[in-house]
Amino acid sequence: MIQFLLNQTLRTEHALDPNLTVLEYLRSQCAKPGTKEGCASGDCGACTVVVGELGQDENGRDRIRYRSLNSCLTFVASLHGKQLISVEDLKHQGKLHSVQQAMVECHGSQCGFCTPGFVMSLFALQKNSDAPDLHKAQEALAGNLCRCTGYRPILAAAEQACCQRGGDQFDARESETIARLKAIAPQEIAELNSGDKRCMVPLTIADLADLYSSHPEARLLAGGTDLALEVTQFHRALPVMIYVGNVSEMKRIERFDDRLEIGAATPLTDCYDALNEHYPDFGELLHRFASLQIRNQGTLGGNIGNASPIGDSPPLLIALGAQIVLRQGNQTRTLALEDYFIDYRITARQESEFIEKIIVPLPQANTRFRAYKVSKRLDDDISAVCAAFNLRIENGIVTDARVAFGGMAAIPKRAKACETALLGNAWNQASVDRAVAALAEDFTPLSDFRASKEYRLLSAQNLLRKYFIELQTPHIETRVTAYV
Ligand SMILES: Cc1cc2nc3c(=O)[nH]c(=O)nc-3n(C[C@H](O)[C@H](O)[C@H](O)COP(=O)(O)OP(=O)(O)OC[C@H]3O[C@@H](n4cnc5c(N)ncnc54)[C@H](O)[C@@H]3O)c2cc1C
Ligand code: FES
Ligand code: FES
Repeated sequence: MIQFLLNQTLRTEHALDPNLTVLEYLRSQCAKPGTKEGCASGDCGACTVVVGELGQDENGRDRIRYRSLNSCLTFVASLHGKQLISVEDLKHQGKLHSVQQAMVECHGSQCGFCTPGFVMSLFALQKNSDAPDLHKAQEALAGNLCRCTGYRPILAAAEQACCQRGGDQFDARESETIARLKAIAPQEIAELNSGDKRCMVPLTIADLADLYSSHPEARLLAGGTDLALEVTQFHRALPVMIYVGNVSEMKRIERFDDRLEIGAATPLTDCYDALNEHYPDFGELLHRFASLQIRNQGTLGGNIGNASPIGDSPPLLIALGAQIVLRQGNQTRTLALEDYFIDYRITARQESEFIEKIIVPLPQANTRFRAYKVSKRLDDDISAVCAAFNLRIENGIVTDARVAFGGMAAIPKRAKACETALLGNAWNQASVDRAVAALAEDFTPLSDFRASKEYRLLSAQNLLRKYFIELQTPHIETRVTAYV
């Protein structure tokens, strides 16, 4: 059984297909058709809903954290213990919510198909902003597409909505909602099942390890932003899933003098501050990782677990010398991330083993980390090439070199010949030229709809040149913003 609040109504679900998305659930089981399906793949934002979770503010007071999600990629079991708010819930006592009123007054809607999604993104923006901020508004709306209105009026609505943050029915009932969420806070392993399909929802890492050992055939579900596509795009069934998103030990970030330890189920949005503080290029890349909705639900562990050759975080983590802790039952082992990826979508993960956390070393003296993402669009696009450089340069000599790429091979991979060309040599144009040439030994990329093999190799080589130029002239700020 799983329990959650649908706005303020307690929903208890016993027998429900665990492959049902929140989008289908709202439309087919709750008679709430306001949430729309555009793409069913996380690209258009028409299905945006907001999910509230218990959290605490900086003063340790209980608060509800509201986040926008793509309901087309969210399975219902992941709502366990949370509050789901859809567009129907915004109008109150016959009056439009201030974000809806702002869309009306700023002429932010024409055909209206995209409008519920925009409204929900604006609602989440308003809940998370103290003042109008164009950058935040653009970030909040980058995952919402509109084919007819144009974005200027919608951005004007965002500005108006953030100016009018005067309190609404959700603020008025916050204490009551907190009490209700506490009352349904999960206490034990939950399960949603129907026929031969089931999704188990453990609370502790020990329970997760036990369940996975008993059900090695299960698919681990974190944010679902990759996994759910198997259902919505490829029409496959996922008969057994274990949802890792309620395992609190895997959702925290611990800070040590020399490293960060990031729980594998930590949403990418929550990874941002910690990584950005030490590695601004990592932060910048996360800003360009999919959309805010996807970053709110997608996790760092899911990005690694998915083992895509074009996943954005692995090349950066490999260049930083990150390790992962893998757990199987009560046994753990620590592995360098670069040794995790073996061949196309083949990893070193054993049966019933899962990624518990990611260990990211903090910057060392004289190291220079930079990362670059090349994609066709600036926002919400997958990389054609992703590059990360992390060199230690002492007295003009390269004394350590870690260079890694995504999109250049079947796995995210270090460029060993390039590193060898740099290591022990002067950091100058001649050795960079040799390292650029060596990249052709390291990689034989493929052509696909994102880029040709020639384009990929030339981009990789030019990114190394760019890194060299930027380190020579640090005032040049052209870093992660590289796009085709
Ligand atoms: C519209 C859209 C845009 C995207 N843009 C980007 C992008 O710009 N860059 C990018 O890199 N990716 C992108 N992605 C892919 C995806 O969002 C990321 O890979 C994300 O980090 C996946 O995390 P998740 O929690 O949603 O994983 P899930 O979908 O829940 O899981 C992904 C895989 O990892 C496995 N897994 C999950 N957790 C663990 C664990 N703890 N241990 C072992 N295995 C585990 C799952 O079983 C599954 O096989 C995009 C996806 C969409 C839909
Ligand atoms: S329907 Fe397009 S993002 Fe969900
Ligand atoms: S108003 Fe028509 S798609 Fe946005």
